[in-house]
Formats: sequence, structure tokens, C-alpha cells
Amino acid sequence: MYAAAGDDLTAVPWANLKPFPLLVEWLDGAGTAVSGAALVVGSGYGDDAEELARRGFAVSAFDLAPTAIERTHERFPESTVEYRVADLFELPAGWRERFDLVVEIRTLQSLPIEERAAAARAIAGTVAPGGRLWLFALARDAHARGETRPWPVTPAELAVLEAAGLAWESRREDLLDADLYDVVGTLRRPPLG
Ligand SMILES: C[S@@+](CC[C@H](N)C(=O)[O-])C[C@H]1O[C@@H](n2cnc3c(N)ncnc32)[C@H](O)[C@@H]1O
Repeated sequence: MYAAAGDDLTAVPWANLKPFPLLVEWLDGAGTAVSGAALVVGSGYGDDAEELARRGFAVSAFDLAPTAIERTHERFPESTVEYRVADLFELPAGWRERFDLVVEIRTLQSLPIEERAAAARAIAGTVAPGGRLWLFALARDAHARGETRPWPVTPAELAVLEAAGLAWESRREDLLDADLYDVVGTLRRPPLG
């Protein structure tokens, strides 16, 4: 989709070309209580990564789509963010339990259902002891037949994050329509010792 969009960044349906408002709201509330090294999963055109960098985080960000990363470099030529083209399923070994804050917005729901558990494990695996995952996902209690993309995530898929060592610190569900809801919250890996 990024390649098809070319220079027309507005042609990518999820790209708002501004930081995700609920993330900004959370960061405003968290203040200096969260800081350090941050990772943005599926960083798209880079707005969330740039927001974190603006707030003083040392930011790494990755996306599978080379065009998204290329456009990001064009949009933010002076950026301090370390952007790379990378696959969630083959992350650098050095990212293992490395980040104080990991931001995951709408990547899980873009992946085929059979890849969700491995994806959730890979994301959780980047959170440092004492670190947090900030998550936003469209959700439904069970998969519906014939559903089209994005495919909402289920509680069972989100539970993989807990099985991988994270615990919910805050969690909110915003009902959208019948059984469809947004899940927004943070999970934390317990500190060492
Ligand atoms: C729905 S978009 C969300 C982008 C951004 N997080 C946002 O909320 O605007 C999902 C993103 O995940 C990326 N993605 C999909 N599969 C991936 C993978 N295996 N590894 C890394 N990124 C992936 C896509 O290229 C896309 O940018």
C-alpha cells in the first residue's frame, strides 16, 4: 500500500500524518515517569517515533515496508530516530528485552490470525525488565467469519503478551459498535529483583 501510494501519503488509509492522539494523551499524563529507550513497532510514516524523540526518548523504529521508511526519512531528514526496515519476526538480537517503552499501534490487527501469537511474543520480547508496552488495538471477543482487514484482535491473542511475561498496568476498552471495541493500555515487565 505504501508503494502504491507513492508521494500521496494521504492515500494510506491508516496514516494520519500526526502522532496518535491517545499516545500523546498518555505521554502527557505520564510526564517524566517514562523515559529512556523507546521502540516503535510498525512505524509507518514515523509520526509516533518523532513524537517520542521530541520528548527526549532515544528512539528506534521499524517497519517491514521499505517505502514507509523511505518516506519517513524524506519527511524528517533531521531526525534522531534510528529507523530501519525490519521484520517483526526477525528482530535484531540486541533488541531483546532492551526497551523502556515499546509502542504498538494497530500492527497486530494488520497481521493474519495465524501469525498473531508469534507477533505478540516478538513484541513482548523487546520490553526491558521494568519497561512498558503501550498498546492500541481494535478488538473483538472472537473472530467473525469472513471478516475483512483490519482483523480485530481477540482477548486470547492479547493474553499471549501476558504469557510472555508482561502484566497489564492499565487497560481500557472503548466500545465502538456492537461487539467491536478498541483496547488501549500499558503492560509492564516486572523489574529485576
Ligand atoms: C495498520 S499499519 C499501522 C501503522 C502505524 N503503527 C499506525 O498506527 O499508523 C500496520 C503497519 O505494520 C507494518 N507491518 C506489517 N507487518 C509487519 C512486520 N512483519 N514487521 C514489521 N512491520 C510490519 C506495516 O507495514 C504497517 O506500517
